[in-house]
Amino acid sequence: MHSSKLFSLLPFLRLAIASADRTWTFVQQGNSGIVPLELITLSPTLALMYDRPYTNPLKLPDGEPAWAGLWHFDTNTATPLKTITNTFCAGGAFISNGTLVAVGGQPLDSIPGWGNATDGTMGIRLFGPCTSKDGTGPGCTVFEDPKNMHLAVTRWYPTALRIPDGSLMIMGGSDILTTFNSADIAQNNIEFFPPRKGEKGKVRPSKFLNDTLPANLFPRSMVLPSGHVLMMANNQSVIYDIETNKELHRLPELPNGVRIGVPFDGFAQLLPLSPPLYEPTVLACGGSNKPDTITLEEMSIHDVASTQCQRMTLTSAGIAAGWQVEHMPEPRLMPETVILPTGDVLILNGAHSGYSGYPSVGDSAATGSNAANPALRGIMYRTSLPHGQRLTQAGLPASSIPRMYHSAATFTAKGNVMVAASNPHPFVLTADNNPNNQSFPTEYRVEYLNPDFITHNSPRPVISHSPSKLAFNAKGTITVTIPRSLASGELQVSLMDMGFITHGWHAGSRLVFLEHKLKGNQLTITAPPNGNIYPPGPAWIYVVADGVWSEGVQIMIGDGGNPPRPSQGVPAAHNCL
Ligand SMILES: *[C@@H]1O[C@H](CO)[C@@H](O)[C@H](O)[C@H]1NC(C)=O
Ligand SMILES: *[C@@H]1O[C@H](CO)[C@@H](O)[C@H](O)[C@H]1NC(C)=O
Ligand SMILES: *[C@@H]1O[C@H](CO)[C@@H](O)[C@H](O)[C@H]1NC(C)=O
Ligand SMILES: *[C@@H]1O[C@H](CO)[C@@H](O)[C@H](O)[C@H]1NC(C)=O
Ligand SMILES: *[C@@H]1O[C@H](CO)[C@@H](O)[C@H](O)[C@H]1NC(C)=O
Repeated sequence: MHSSKLFSLLPFLRLAIASADRTWTFVQQGNSGIVPLELITLSPTLALMYDRPYTNPLKLPDGEPAWAGLWHFDTNTATPLKTITNTFCAGGAFISNGTLVAVGGQPLDSIPGWGNATDGTMGIRLFGPCTSKDGTGPGCTVFEDPKNMHLAVTRWYPTALRIPDGSLMIMGGSDILTTFNSADIAQNNIEFFPPRKGEKGKVRPSKFLNDTLPANLFPRSMVLPSGHVLMMANNQSVIYDIETNKELHRLPELPNGVRIGVPFDGFAQLLPLSPPLYEPTVLACGGSNKPDTITLEEMSIHDVASTQCQRMTLTSAGIAAGWQVEHMPEPRLMPETVILPTGDVLILNGAHSGYSGYPSVGDSAATGSNAANPALRGIMYRTSLPHGQRLTQAGLPASSIPRMYHSAATFTAKGNVMVAASNPHPFVLTADNNPNNQSFPTEYRVEYLNPDFITHNSPRPVISHSPSKLAFNAKGTITVTIPRSLASGELQVSLMDMGFITHGWHAGSRLVFLEHKLKGNQLTITAPPNGNIYPPGPAWIYVVADGVWSEGVQIMIGDGGNPPRPSQGVPAAHNCL
């Protein structure tokens, strides 16, 4: 019997589990050495960090400041990585062969003593797979060849998304730094890496991006089980068909004047996909309800952000029902969203008021920040609870460290959340070198947010063996020990992409619950049916028993080949658009 069926026989038990809030604890550990405003978990021992060239304490072997590095989870230390182009404000994702690709970045702004970068706006940076634990050896360097391998156009603040053929769809951005995007600098178009057949050096104009100016940077985008891509910017959303290059459906606008596109940064997250129907529901929260015609002079660091969350199931019926609105206990701008193996979404970091971007709004000069009122405490979105009961701060502690513009948070293999960075200033501002007494100095301190079962080292499911690769729709076997104390609860097997984290946007983050059967300590799992459900590429598996998750193990979904991959697996029943 499928475990969820068994579970439905025990409604009382389900209620008891669902209503329990975990207690979380912040622990400070180590310094990142650069501002990891782009943060990507690579392996159980490593995360990749990208910053911009300025006077960071982490130095390259030649003594120049580094603007890229590896974070070592085992030692809570950073080591530098040599990069050529300016990585600041890039997008990225893993592709089907396990290589992490970062695209776009900052125009040339090399300043003596700040590191020696070249223009990064057309940059393509490949990293890995890096299989060593300590981040040395083959695959553990950033590969760049700016002359021969670059984007078709310049992109600052682009989104990159791994699509069903395992390659990247790269969308949007602008030529140069800006608070609001505008027609003269906007790249309202789409390209692919590797380029699609016949599209090398070319871009596809996007009417949607044009229509969502001036708040369309880092468009929030996700692959749907139909293979189409949902793109969100400003207060609009569209379902885009990659194969025909057509915009299929515009969704209703976000209600009540709310916008989530830069500089009104809110988040969008695809909620977990579950077999057999894989009905996609998108959640968007925070941002601002100011008009997009507001001028910089009219904007204030004290403009209160939105408390609004809205979700929609992307089926005909779901779209007809419209956005379902709920409210967070407090307003949020620049939130991070960490999807947990249970399917809940942890909302962290950011501010209660203001805007994203370098100081540019009316009253930002005194503080050196476009935002004020740091949000120190997380909010949990309990995905499976009924409407109106999902948003809570119960069990979540406050940090003492503001995590404003250019902060980050990522899920880890250990099963906790790494929280890092913050720097709203266009230079490094340390607490002891702050002549104008500006707010929110550059932050290098790393924290982990630990769930109670990690804090107390209490029993968790343990995965002792798992396949390293699984073809679509194929079955695999995991050896797992479920502690007796958790054995009577629901069992979930979560296949996750943790995303490429930057600017409050966890691009590509995704969770697919896998069909499974437990016999003794042998857990048989079935891979997602095809690349529309989980685009071929690297993933993490967590086993969750009674709400407690194991440590994660890495797995390659699909054949691991270079993109584009031919379509693999079997068609899945889906009724989404
Ligand atoms: C800095 O860039 C210049 C020009 O590309 C190059 O000649 C020089 O070797 C670089 N210096 C370092 C330390 O990388
Ligand atoms: C972009 O939008 C503007 C204003 O609505 C319009 O004049 C222009 O034709 C649009 N361009 C494209 C390529 O759609
Ligand atoms: C969405 O934004 C547009 C452009 O600013 C605005 O005209 C429209 O009223 C907004 N929609 C809603 C529902 O607020
Ligand atoms: C610096 O700013 C803080 C508030 O941000 C204020 O309390 C303090 O008095 C200021 N110090 C100076 C020397 O201006
Ligand atoms: C992965 O694929 C990309 C795009 O084809 C290629 O440039 C890169 O070298 C590949 N990585 C590995 C490790 O083969």
